[in-house]
Amino acid sequence: MVKKKINIAASILSADFSILGKEVKDIDKAGSDMIHIDVMDGSFVPNITIGPSVISNIRPFSKKPFDVHLMINEPSKHVDEFIAAGADILTIHYEADLHPIRTLDYIKSKGIKAGIAINPATPEVALESLLDYCDLILVMLVNPGFGGQKTILSQIKKVKSISAMLKKHKKNIYLEVDGGVNPLNIKNLVKAGANLIVAGNAIFKDGKDFYEKNIRALKVPRVK
Ligand code: DX5
Ligand code: ZN
Repeated sequence: MVKKKINIAASILSADFSILGKEVKDIDKAGSDMIHIDVMDGSFVPNITIGPSVISNIRPFSKKPFDVHLMINEPSKHVDEFIAAGADILTIHYEADLHPIRTLDYIKSKGIKAGIAINPATPEVALESLLDYCDLILVMLVNPGFGGQKTILSQIKKVKSISAMLKKHKKNIYLEVDGGVNPLNIKNLVKAGANLIVAGNAIFKDGKDFYEKNIRALKVPRVK
């Protein structure tokens, strides 16, 4: 069951990697509900970021759920390593896996939550056959690869239509959005039905003294 509130997942892609453990501890203390971890392979997306060993190293710094976003090709080859590293939610990309149902099923069989992500160019209809197999849908609001990009506005309509699809199928699962979220556009995303919000730049941009203030600014525009 997903709680009816704005859940924030701070994306550590915008953190200071030289003190990553401390950054995780600081955003946890500042009120982030989850820790969003972007794994990139330089193939599915142009950028290369972190792997399972970094995740297991930062795991002791927070008890909050680790929301691991795999932007890698053929994710099924690596899910065991990310589960062992401490992922609580493991999200694969629809575009990166020829057999997403098998991979989602496998992730769930290991006792953690399984998520499916779609890129901005992927239509929402692709998700309909996957609803029974996932605990979370992640709608990319930017082309994945880098933090600090601008939300592609057409994706807000997509969030609305996925939210309607979830209602129709009576699925109370996370509807996560990722990319360019800030205190100005978050209200529209929540209105559209998003209930788990990733934010990188909007939280980290002013340094650690402002993490709490920046997270609060995202949580303030609550909608009923
Ligand atoms: C982008 C990543 C995002 C990114 C979000 O490919 O998946 O999680 O870190 O950062 P902002 O909020 O700065 O767009
Ligand atoms: Zn992400």
